[in-house]
Amino acid sequence: MKINDRLKKIGDLVEANSFCLDVGCDHAFLDIYLVQKDKNIRAVASDVAEGPLSHARENIKRYHLEDKIECRLGNGLDTYSDGIDTIIISGMGGRSMIGIFKSHMEVLKKVDTIILSPNNYQIDVKKFLCKHKFYLSNEELVKEGKFIYQILVFSKGKRKYTKKDYFFGPVLLKKKGSLFEEYYKRELKSREILLQILPKNYRWKKFLTRREIKMIKEEINNK
Ligand SMILES: C[S@@+](CC[C@H](N)C(=O)[O-])C[C@H]1O[C@@H](n2cnc3c(N)ncnc32)[C@H](O)[C@@H]1O
Repeated sequence: MKINDRLKKIGDLVEANSFCLDVGCDHAFLDIYLVQKDKNIRAVASDVAEGPLSHARENIKRYHLEDKIECRLGNGLDTYSDGIDTIIISGMGGRSMIGIFKSHMEVLKKVDTIILSPNNYQIDVKKFLCKHKFYLSNEELVKEGKFIYQILVFSKGKRKYTKKDYFFGPVLLKKKGSLFEEYYKRELKSREILLQILPKNYRWKKFLTRREIKMIKEEINNK
């Protein structure tokens, strides 16, 4: 089965023997990749909508993986059940992800690993989970078409992070690499444009944007 680079990267970050819940599985390509790469991984492919879940069911059937992947229809973590140790959510906005966790805070105590690839509000997601006894054990950037996606891996534990850590990601700050530079050059450009179009009375937003521009320039020049 052909899988895109973003989903493959997410799949490769899942540990051996995991029991995963993929929230918003859509076609279940990720789950199929996971159980094919490791025969000891099991997965629950869940989605809030019947349409995507029926595609998931068809794909799982096509690969004869019904004994490895269970499909569950439901909103967010409503489909969680005991024994699942890894939550995966990708291809949604960061605030939706936070909402999903807020509706089932008890699940945060039960799982060991959370792998997220939010389309936006990544800093809010990092702050939320790190406030609730997780830390960033890994982070990756992956390019798919013209977009660069962040993938965040949270494990159980506490770490102290600075503003800069939350902004860039503590792991990415250490790893850097060419994709890091490309990603933050784009972020820099979008903030420079924002500064030009913000109305005069948006002083606080302008102040924050200038501070972020300064931080990005320092980091890019300090390769
Ligand atoms: C853009 S697709 C992402 C599919 C896949 N996870 C990926 O990264 O390619 C988003 C999927 O999430 C589902 N979804 C959105 N909100 C959800 C929620 N609260 N609970 C479960 N699924 C949800 C949608 O129905 C859709 O199938």
